[in-house]
Amino acid sequence: MNSKLFYALISWFQQNKRDLPWRKDVDTYAIHVSEIMLQQTKVETVIPYYITFLNTLKNYEDLAQVEDRIFMKLWEGLGYYSRARNLKKAAQIIVENYHGVFPKDYKKAISLPGIGEYTAGAILSRAYHLPYAAVDGNVLRVLSRIEGSFKDIKAEKTKKEYKALLEKEIQHFSPGTFNEAFMDLGATICLPKQQPKCEICPISSFCKAFQEGKQNQYPVKIAKNEKIIEEKTCVFLSWNNRFFLSPKEQGLLKGLYAPILIDSFKREDELEEILKKQGIKIRYFQELPLKKHIFSHRIWLMKGYIVPILFNNNMKKEQFFFLDDLKEKIPVPTCFKKFFPYF
Ligand code: ADE
Repeated sequence: MNSKLFYALISWFQQNKRDLPWRKDVDTYAIHVSEIMLQQTKVETVIPYYITFLNTLKNYEDLAQVEDRIFMKLWEGLGYYSRARNLKKAAQIIVENYHGVFPKDYKKAISLPGIGEYTAGAILSRAYHLPYAAVDGNVLRVLSRIEGSFKDIKAEKTKKEYKALLEKEIQHFSPGTFNEAFMDLGATICLPKQQPKCEICPISSFCKAFQEGKQNQYPVKIAKNEKIIEEKTCVFLSWNNRFFLSPKEQGLLKGLYAPILIDSFKREDELEEILKKQGIKIRYFQELPLKKHIFSHRIWLMKGYIVPILFNNNMKKEQFFFLDDLKEKIPVPTCFKKFFPYF
């Protein structure tokens, strides 16, 4: 990752950061409260709760002693009530064991109730300028787009790798600013699904997904039971409005009709070489959008191409099918049918 990206991001953040009440506070108690409230909860929802809460319970001592009824009333409507109970328990531990001051030590911080890796990173970086990255789904989305990476962001391994990558860089900056810059980029510009605002993104020139015009293909999220991910290239030779598919000879989907299926993602020049070796005369390549198919134990990420060709005598006309026949008469697995709308 180009380290200039981080400078560009932080200078954008300094000029464009959201004006949020917890950004005016440098008090570690207030930072702790804000990060707990912000878990799984939108910034706009948190703001009024945060203000009332801090006006009522001004420090860890107040929080440690507050009557449950009053405390829960302050949290009413914010949801995820176990985090509220954990916050109060953490306050009691902080008063008893740490003289009412949030611990600076990562291990101590993370062993407090309600504090996981993300929250520990967010609090310690904001409160004490310690170089811990706060990596959540938003940050993972941003990073996988920058890198153009199909790594599964739900996998613990991916999170660890990205955390390590960020923690190499974070030490060159103010850590709290560094983390909040990523949060703001993820929340206001590098939005999920079809919504990223790449035209105003300060780091689009460093973003592989943007350069390839494939922002919407990232991030890849795979459900909990970890499945292996395989990358495939699917080549649909076409001739006279018909498409070449043949019965798969082995492995998964054996016997069903498939395009030319090649392991891993191939670029056009690589494909050209492969196809030429088979004596195929290519007219041009039409790249199709990336498709994902989930099988019971694996996931295929499929890059597809329609490749119009010049017919030659090694080929059999019967192996080329009209789309209607492929839909109605030929056994084609669902994964390949996902490309039919582009035929
Ligand atoms: N989400 C979690 N922590 C946040 C923070 N400090 N600022 C904005 N959004 C957040």
